[in-house]
Amino acid sequence: MVTRINAETTPFDTVIDRRGTFSTKWERYAGRDVLPFWVADMDFAMPAFIQAAIARRLEHPIVGYTRTPAPLVDAFRAWLERHYGWRVPEPWLVWLPGVVPGFNLAARAVAEPGGAIVIPTPVYYPFLDVPANAGQAGIQVPLCRDGDRWVMDFDALEAALRPGARLLLLSNPQNPTGRAYTRAELQALADLALRHRLVVCSDEIHCNLILDPDARHVPIASLGPEIAAASISLYAITKTYNIPGLSCAVAVIPDPTLRNAFVRAQAGLVSHPGPLAYAATQAALEDTGPWVPALLDYLRRNHARVRAVAGARMTPVEATYLAWLDVRDLGLEQPGAFFEQHGLGLSDGAAFGGPGFVRFNFACPRSLLEQGLQRLAHALDAARTGAAGPSGMN
Ligand SMILES: Cc1ncc(COP(=O)(O)O)c(C=O)c1O
Repeated sequence: MVTRINAETTPFDTVIDRRGTFSTKWERYAGRDVLPFWVADMDFAMPAFIQAAIARRLEHPIVGYTRTPAPLVDAFRAWLERHYGWRVPEPWLVWLPGVVPGFNLAARAVAEPGGAIVIPTPVYYPFLDVPANAGQAGIQVPLCRDGDRWVMDFDALEAALRPGARLLLLSNPQNPTGRAYTRAELQALADLALRHRLVVCSDEIHCNLILDPDARHVPIASLGPEIAAASISLYAITKTYNIPGLSCAVAVIPDPTLRNAFVRAQAGLVSHPGPLAYAATQAALEDTGPWVPALLDYLRRNHARVRAVAGARMTPVEATYLAWLDVRDLGLEQPGAFFEQHGLGLSDGAAFGGPGFVRFNFACPRSLLEQGLQRLAHALDAARTGAAGPSGMN
């Protein structure tokens, strides 16, 4: 049973039993002593005002096919301007049942015979399926370490480009490295895209989750009209308020030709969000209260705890709630499986194009995090000394 709580009065410390909800994150390890820190949802209750908005919608007993509500469109446009100073007219928007369909549609919209898609890696693993899904070649270009940050390797990007390259898939803020790219980095990327006539599809789903007080989220399309005309920007408020099961996203596509191609690619295949998702999304977009600042404060403290244990294995997380841990020195054949043997369900970096790394989702109550960190410390010790996982945890 799910415990119903009021997140306005209950801190993020409350542990909520998610068993019985068919949670993707928790069901994977049902019946095993493995704590899940993998898939990117949070173990926190959504704020009470979103639950109330859904309940209000359910007071009407028919949840039929629903047009995108005009107040939702207004709320999104106001949110984008309030947070990022980017004003977008209503016709630029295409509503979608998720960001993943969005970047796959972007690929289909620009695909040409013999075309290619450029993907900086490591990256949120569904990006890596996009080229094959759209019948295009994939060009993966690794990010590189610059001190304590993962950055674009612009020389490698230039060198990897070939004439058929039409699209670059950007994750900003970057999943899994936790980078919030700076305006200068994005400007350099925009210049490269314009020089090579690339469309940039920018997945900005984590844009509200900025942990580094000195970092800012910059929508790449907001840098100027030229890059705006060559961009498809994808947003969803679902990560911020932990409602990813209420699928609702929106693509911002300023160029009419590109937008028409995107809409044509969508026809008959990708449906619209439903009325409960619309209701929740509108309530989230209209929120200017203390819930998100309190969440960010909690995540920053969790981040500090993860860094205290993982140390130099991770770069600081500027944005997202995902730590990217370098375990290459441990020589583990399958890092994900190794940590599972030590009671930790992490995402194996190989799926993200980053073998030898694991991704740790730290968006959970601190008591749960501390258990996970104890297991992490133990597993790291065991890997260094060659000890086996504790019996009973396999
Ligand atoms: C970078 C990124 N994009 C997209 C998604 C999923 O988006 P959606 O559920 O709207 O398809 C995730 C979820 O983890 C993500 O981290």
